[in-house]
Amino acid sequence: MKLPLGLALAALAWAAGAEASQHDGLEAIRQRGYLRICADPANLPFSSNDSGTPGFEVELAQLIAGELGVTARMEWHATHVRAIKPLRDGACELFMGLPVDRRFREGNPWIAVSQPYYTMTHALVTRADAGSLTIADLKGKRVAVELSSIAEVYVAYRDVVRGLYRTQEQAFQAVARDEAVAAFLWFPLAVWLARGRADLKVVAVSDEGLAFPVGAGVRKRDPGLAEAIDAAVGRLLASGRAQETFARYGITSAHRSARESPFVLARDFVLVQDKDSREAGRSLFSTACSRCHGAEGVGGGTGGSLPRLRNYEGGWDRFYRFVWEGRKNTPMAAFKGILSPDEVRALYEYLTSLPRQ
Ligand code: HEC
Repeated sequence: MKLPLGLALAALAWAAGAEASQHDGLEAIRQRGYLRICADPANLPFSSNDSGTPGFEVELAQLIAGELGVTARMEWHATHVRAIKPLRDGACELFMGLPVDRRFREGNPWIAVSQPYYTMTHALVTRADAGSLTIADLKGKRVAVELSSIAEVYVAYRDVVRGLYRTQEQAFQAVARDEAVAAFLWFPLAVWLARGRADLKVVAVSDEGLAFPVGAGVRKRDPGLAEAIDAAVGRLLASGRAQETFARYGITSAHRSARESPFVLARDFVLVQDKDSREAGRSLFSTACSRCHGAEGVGGGTGGSLPRLRNYEGGWDRFYRFVWEGRKNTPMAAFKGILSPDEVRALYEYLTSLPRQ
């Protein structure tokens, strides 16, 4: 007898759920013999499915598994942001690179993040012959940043000309092509992209506000796991094995103390990754606009009072003009050339279709 499809799916979902919960916890992982780690297959120098160059977070995760007496099994989830949904849903037990940050903890109370193994910082990439440049020297100059990244928001409130790009790699390429005097990126990525390039140099930016500590994340409900991972990270740092791993990726100043950064938002680590086209506006808004305009466009955001866009009443023409052309001498950039007109439309429809608040 064949089960109706719906029932069969429900049975499958139930079986998958049952399996996930059976395998939860340190004891179960030890019995099973492997720890599952969620990571992006194409995010070097952090992670990669190329076993010859797996990335420093994957290598550290493998060392952590070894400390637990088990092997590491990778679960690849393609994402350019740190989508923690697979961890919540039980696809793995370990997720590297989460911020040790109060707001992140409050936003994701189901996650326990270990002691920090690394401090995320930023760097400027410039031409090797550019002389010594700091952010202050970049006044009036074109600086390439990733759209809506921490770096973008940071420079938006300084007198530089922002060159916006979809990815940090594209921002980096802008310097290589002389479209910008500098690119402002994650430090580890800057070092990685500039390797072997004698024509470029990487200058660490030491502003405290741009640094934040990261650790390894697990689900709180998995018994014994958070403590075991935390202790493993501690041992790997104390023995210097973690630092050796980072050094292979060109990262020598692995960890220093850092306070919480005002620029890190929980949205850098999102739960949902919308593939559904109806959801395109929501997803785009959270990537490109929410850091300033607030989640769901409620206003506020980094840097003080910003226009509320939720249930926008200015009309399509005004909205389109603002987004397309930006507003000179304000943090509101021109999105022409970065977003397509369809994407601006999707943003507008998303904002105007939200329930009234
Ligand atoms: C770096 C911060 C920043 C980002 C990112 C940003 N905005 Fe803005 N936006 C502002 C500021 C500041 C203003 C107010 C400008 C002014 O003073 O007129 C503004 C104004 C606007 C306005 C005008 C509202 C009105 O009718 O007066 C619209 C519409 C808008 N933004 C849409 C967007 C959309 C859509 C995105 C994402 C694609 C976005 N913004 C991303 C900072 C930002």
